Amino acid sequence: MHVHNYEKLWLGASLLLIVGFISTIVYGAAGAGITMVNDEGGQVNPQELGNTSGFDDPGVTKVGPNEYEVHVVGIQFAFQPSTMEVPANSTVTFYVTSRDVVHGFEIVGTNANTMVIPGEVSKITVEFDEPGEYGIVCHEYCGAGHHSMAAELTVTE
Ligand code: CUA
Repeated sequence: MHVHNYEKLWLGASLLLIVGFISTIVYGAAGAGITMVNDEGGQVNPQELGNTSGFDDPGVTKVGPNEYEVHVVGIQFAFQPSTMEVPANSTVTFYVTSRDVVHGFEIVGTNANTMVIPGEVSKITVEFDEPGEYGIVCHEYCGAGHHSMAAELTVTE
């Protein structure tokens, strides 16, 4: 069988394209510096949150002079707790998980933004220097009540 040089060139070019497409996908999913899911908070059983330390009683816990931890559970269509309060000049670490479907957790006006996935604990640390009111919203479509899934964070004087 005789294959023309021109044909070989096109075979080679299309192979390169396929390899290129695959590496783009792999890079997007696992490439350095890209974190699509923050799971450094570890894993939990979404059915056992009631028996999981922190998530059994979601809310604000003082863990140091200016340090707080906040455990948050996302459910269709609310955050537990729905209101939280920390003083200004504090460092707050949020541990967020879901009891049902994938939600989002965004503190409006900050760069705190994470996916909330059943079985995974998303951990984000935020420093609040000034008093103020922050809305927290779900930014992943999670069902009919998605738009009403929100909470309030108050940073007091
Ligand atoms: Cu929860 Cu959208």
